[in-house]
Amino acid sequence: MLVNDISVDRIDGDDQSSINAESVTPKHVLDRENRDTVGTVTVADPRITCRNVDVYYGDKHAIHDVSVDLGRNEVLAMIGPSGCGKSTFLRCLNRMNDTIDICRVTGQIELDGQDIYDKSIDVVPLRSQVGMVFQKPNPFPKSIYENVAWGPRVHGLARSKADLNEIVETSLLKAGLWNEVKDRLDKPGTSLSGGQQQRLCIARTIAVSPEVILMDEPCSALDPIATAKIEDLIDELRQQYSIAIVTHSMQQAARVSQRTAYFHMGDLIEVGETAAIFTNPKHPLTEDYITGRFG
Ligand SMILES: Nc1ncnc2c1ncn2[C@@H]1O[C@H](COP(=O)(O)OP(=O)(O)OP(=O)(O)O)[C@@H](O)[C@H]1O
Ligand SMILES: [Mg+2]
Repeated sequence: MLVNDISVDRIDGDDQSSINAESVTPKHVLDRENRDTVGTVTVADPRITCRNVDVYYGDKHAIHDVSVDLGRNEVLAMIGPSGCGKSTFLRCLNRMNDTIDICRVTGQIELDGQDIYDKSIDVVPLRSQVGMVFQKPNPFPKSIYENVAWGPRVHGLARSKADLNEIVETSLLKAGLWNEVKDRLDKPGTSLSGGQQQRLCIARTIAVSPEVILMDEPCSALDPIATAKIEDLIDELRQQYSIAIVTHSMQQAARVSQRTAYFHMGDLIEVGETAAIFTNPKHPLTEDYITGRFG
């Protein structure tokens, strides 16, 4: 470590002899002023644009001035240490943070040029346009069929029973689950394995024809085989949807995403092409994280 690359963080006066390996923190880790996002935050064909987004939980400032685009047909991975604000930022994109009383979001987020925080926006259709898949699969306590049919029915997307059957089949096909469940559609969703349940939740999200799918650590409760299936699925879904995925697995981010955003203590530190972020990070904080020095 270069001496001029560190600043000293000590509590015991000016005695230079007390400096040791534990008492120094690299300057770039301490330097909160120098947290402008490195890299290109915009894309040519954005589906979602976020500008100067701040999020507060009461007095706690959880997201600081984040601007980033999510492009059409792309997977954007969001990575960073626990507590850095990945889930908080993801939830801004379909106003899930509205459900947390003390949470306040400022700045601008547009979906296809429309401000999603505008007073005229109804969050129910917004949340089907921007669907969400959570860490723990959460099928409704209903049959496999009803899990998928529920959204299209509520949103009036099927004119007839035959229409609804077709939406259910197509959604399960796209989620790569149809062949495993077609003979047991009346069985409870909860009777499926964890990986199947997660694909059922993805089918449920797809069934209401979203434009964007948000995924918050969708594989963290799954084994490697179920994880590989979901990762293949994410790659297929990209042909039709835009996907933002939070993951703790850098291998997963590298496998499934085209762009990666690195968050640190509420700041978006760096964003860029995934291959470039992992092979040639520009910001020292990104480098620390991907080389395992931090987080
Ligand atoms: N409902 C809440 N009320 C108050 N503070 C919250 C709430 N949710 C999150 N926070 C705080 O906001 C910050 C960001 O949390 P967030 O859950 O977004 O982090 P994360 O990057 O998703 O972490 P992890 O990787 O552990 O899931 C943390 O300091 C957290 O304590
Ligand atoms: Mg989280």
